[in-house]
Amino acid sequence: MDNNRKTYIIANWKMNFTPGEASLYLNKLANRYQPVRKVQAILAPGMVSLQTLSLQINRRQFKLAAQNCHWQDYGSYTGEVSPTQIRSFVDYVIIGHSERRYVFNETDKIIAQKVAAAIRNGLTPILCIGETELERRDGETKAAIYDQLAAGLSQVSAEDIDKVIIAYEPVWAISSNKGAKPASPLDIEEVQKLIRKHIARRYDAQTAENISILYGGSVNKDTAAGYLSIDGIDGLLIGNASLIADQFCAILEIAKGVKNER
Ligand code: PGA
Repeated sequence: MDNNRKTYIIANWKMNFTPGEASLYLNKLANRYQPVRKVQAILAPGMVSLQTLSLQINRRQFKLAAQNCHWQDYGSYTGEVSPTQIRSFVDYVIIGHSERRYVFNETDKIIAQKVAAAIRNGLTPILCIGETELERRDGETKAAIYDQLAAGLSQVSAEDIDKVIIAYEPVWAISSNKGAKPASPLDIEEVQKLIRKHIARRYDAQTAENISILYGGSVNKDTAAGYLSIDGIDGLLIGNASLIADQFCAILEIAKGVKNER
């Protein structure tokens, strides 16, 4: 598919790196990576590193994402961080990652509120959706994707939908899950079609064509090119392999190459 969508390559560091370590990583990466307009490199460090990295980062080279945020702007929510508190540090926020859904019991309703809160605060939500191993085995992949997408976007108006990025991350393919196995290109292509179909129905055909859909789950430098070549896939959300600056840099270079071939 020939389109004008950008490629997004996101490093999700999860609960790794102190601010000092994050800063060293950024330094190393910044010395190596030459940005291009069509590939957007994004780092998603832990909350404690956001301020440090936002002062250090060259925003023409990299952007920052938070890994989560609260659904209210302020309030009595001990231990939480709101989108209003982080919006001067980041441009993006990951919402509804499967670790938030299944380890921290975030419901579709909470995720919908978080997506709305991100948009309200001028941040681009990266809405993660994906079926569990059990749903897959029971033939419920389509239903799970549909339900999470419909719920996650339930508070997003036609005016705001172009501010949303979708990340398809089958839970069983995420490397930290026991017995994880990478998803097949065919499965991923099917799901991105399904997502676009739903978006077309809920919004319109042009919106469905324009929306960016990323894949995440056990991607590394050896598999990145294959995933980026899947029709309708506009980037990658990378966990484990993004913890090594060299490897993440290699994936960014691969993305530049794939984008040029299109
Ligand atoms: P992984 O993680 O690349 O380690 O599978 C992806 C994610 O959880 O976003």
